[in-house]
Amino acid sequence: MNAVTATAPTDAHAEASQSPTAPAPFTTPVVPGLRWSDALNLAMPFMDQTHIEFVDLLAAVQTARDDELVSRWQDLIDHTEAHFGQEDRWMADTGFAPGSCHMTQHAVVLKVLREGLALGEQVQLAPIRQMAHELTIWFPQHAQTMDAGLALHLKSVGYDLATGHVSEPEALPALAIRGCGGSCDSGDTDTSTHPEETA
Ligand SMILES: [Fe+2]
Ligand SMILES: [Fe+2]
Repeated sequence: MNAVTATAPTDAHAEASQSPTAPAPFTTPVVPGLRWSDALNLAMPFMDQTHIEFVDLLAAVQTARDDELVSRWQDLIDHTEAHFGQEDRWMADTGFAPGSCHMTQHAVVLKVLREGLALGEQVQLAPIRQMAHELTIWFPQHAQTMDAGLALHLKSVGYDLATGHVSEPEALPALAIRGCGGSCDSGDTDTSTHPEETA
């Protein structure tokens, strides 16, 4: 996501929102920009269910009236904290190093979403509208790369998402994973070098 554009609406947007005839981008409800599809399915029901809920909550933000927007955004943040938190735990349980790029991307996105909330609480709603739009672009890319890689990794070590049990501990990486867990190259597993983080 672009935190700069998300938190600093342009003068053009501000002017447009003040005109009685011009459209008011990012200040009114819009048709949801993202719907669940097979392309987002990672064949890991527990993870997929969380992602379905994320898509639904994001749609609720995009279709919210102005007087509902901050509350819907808060709902999305609450869910995303749990969503990212569980993936971070799964990574920690299966050999990822703290601060690996997938964890870092979660932290960055949550930080931006909270910045949007702070602005929304000051009745600056345009940044939330813009961030919601950007999430519709960011989420499929994240799910199809980092989350897909994590799902493959969890399956490879026989990780039980409900209990945290690893049924094939011999498949755990010998060295802590610092990259993206399957969505990057072989430089993922390395204790001496840190691949460039992708956010
Ligand atoms: Fe996810
Ligand atoms: Fe993720």
